[in-house]
Amino acid sequence: MKNSELANTAIETRNLSYSPYSKFKVGAALLCKDGKVFKGANIENSSYPLCMCAERNALYNAMMNGYKKEDFVALAIAADTDEPCSPCGACRQVISELFPRDGEIILANLKGDLKETNIDELLPFAFSGDDLK
Ligand code: THU
Repeated sequence: MKNSELANTAIETRNLSYSPYSKFKVGAALLCKDGKVFKGANIENSSYPLCMCAERNALYNAMMNGYKKEDFVALAIAADTDEPCSPCGACRQVISELFPRDGEIILANLKGDLKETNIDELLPFAFSGDDLK
């Protein structure tokens, strides 16, 4: 699957967003080696800290279906932003644990702008489980 197709799936997945407070719809699409694509959208709550981001929901959705880090190939994230939508710090930390270092991360917006990156670029000097040993 092309990166632009995965980005389009992330854009479509914004329709599943529950974001009555921010009104900022984010969609994510996670491509696996077998071709399966798991979706995620942001789900908000009136108790604001309980909001869950789109990209974390996509990763957790895949894991709840038996898929794991080694199965993931690419992750697209999309929102209506001027520049391709960049993941928040909390999501970068989660991606660094659950998504492979050589996996492609595709940032997108509704204008069709794409930025292709990876977790080492997004979160250099990451804290990891190795630090707890
Ligand atoms: N949001 C995401 O879904 N992903 C990000 O990486 C940035 C922020 C959501 C959380 C909240 O529902 C809304 O965008 C505004 O912050």
